[in-house]
Amino acid sequence: MARADRRLGRIFAPAGHNPVFGIYVHWPFCRSKCPYCDFNSHVRHGLIDQPRFVRAFTAEITATAARTPGRTVSTIFFGGGTPSLMEPATVAAILDAVAKSWRVANDVEVTLEANPTSVEARRFAGYRTAGVSRVSLGVQALDDEALSALGRTHTAREALAAVAIARRIFDRYSFDLIYARPGQTPAGWRTELVSAISQAAEHLSLYQLTIEPETPFAALRAAGKLAIPDPDHARNLFDITQEVCAAAGLPAYEISNHARPGAECRHNLVYWRYHEYAGIGPGAHGRLDIDGIRRATATERQPEAWLGLVESQGHGLVTDEPLSRAEAADEYLLLGLRLAEGIDLNRFEILSGGPLSAVEIAHLTRHGLVETTCDGRLRVTAAGFPVLDAVVADLAA
Ligand SMILES: C[S@@+](CC[C@H](N)C(=O)[O-])C[C@H]1O[C@@H](n2cnc3c(N)ncnc32)[C@H](O)[C@@H]1O
Ligand code: SF4
Repeated sequence: MARADRRLGRIFAPAGHNPVFGIYVHWPFCRSKCPYCDFNSHVRHGLIDQPRFVRAFTAEITATAARTPGRTVSTIFFGGGTPSLMEPATVAAILDAVAKSWRVANDVEVTLEANPTSVEARRFAGYRTAGVSRVSLGVQALDDEALSALGRTHTAREALAAVAIARRIFDRYSFDLIYARPGQTPAGWRTELVSAISQAAEHLSLYQLTIEPETPFAALRAAGKLAIPDPDHARNLFDITQEVCAAAGLPAYEISNHARPGAECRHNLVYWRYHEYAGIGPGAHGRLDIDGIRRATATERQPEAWLGLVESQGHGLVTDEPLSRAEAADEYLLLGLRLAEGIDLNRFEILSGGPLSAVEIAHLTRHGLVETTCDGRLRVTAAGFPVLDAVVADLAA
């Protein structure tokens, strides 16, 4: 093997033997832009030509499948943007294209992210007929004042009505809340969370508000007009989140995701367990194992430019690079330590070509931030999760 080749992560199962394979489909449009959000989402006045997007999604799926033959698709995730602005026929056509391009597992999980408005909830039955098996709703808050401050266009009542429709139509659903919001008190969050849990069947995503650069919230904060909780207050809200969810039987399986055991989002586990997935649509990222080497892929973010690329060359890829062993191992560490189950130290060693630093592990263990298990895993402790970024930085160094 050539020297450069040895530095690449030649470490994965041969093609066709991957345990799981996920497909991420990005729908890049929203009705309005929320002031905290830096996702690849765009507002367009006027109709989106969905049949044209279907043709482009189909072309990109076909091109990706040609590079990844023999896979069995285990999960599909429609994310955004606002995928619940897609017509059910658009979703059905994309799922058809996936089924024509790869084998699809009998128990495939098909999740669609939805905004919880009444207009969108009307499409839920159509999504189910199209093949969607799970919805993830962006409820964000159960308080109208907070929803308005977040720039949301729905009320708490409307959101809960959408949750109730999801419950009737789908066997599996989840919803997202954002906490550590301006002015949020510990008692207020506890009450809101208990109420959310009473509406959640099996899964909740609970994100601390992050002020993303170049968003309207970042500008407000810079101008001193947005007071977010200080680190101690945010830590208190995080601790309340863990305590209330665990007591209700929804422990964190990932730093921001809570589920009844067995009800975890299988698609997101594909990322965190560092398995293989394809990214389809504007601004979608993928990790593909081609000729045994892990490649990082990304497509053009701007929707119309992506359409143009796909229409002229059959795909919208703007990045398609092999990862070095060190890069692949760092990604595995960074993603895997977000999970309560942690990482497999043996797999880390296979990926990186060397073991994780025993000195660092011992140091972090002495401080009670990580622990190793008898089956060779390293995981972050309850005390370590609030300082996860620092733990990962120490181990990756
Ligand atoms: C792709 S986004 C949105 C899905 C859907 N469009 C919606 O807004 O309901 C997925 C989730 O990320 C979370 N999120 C987005 N920006 C965030 C931020 N700056 N801080 C914390 N959570 C954020 C929200 O909870 C959101 O539901
Ligand atoms: S939070 Fe959701 S609805 Fe709001 S801009 Fe981001 S993707 Fe769109």
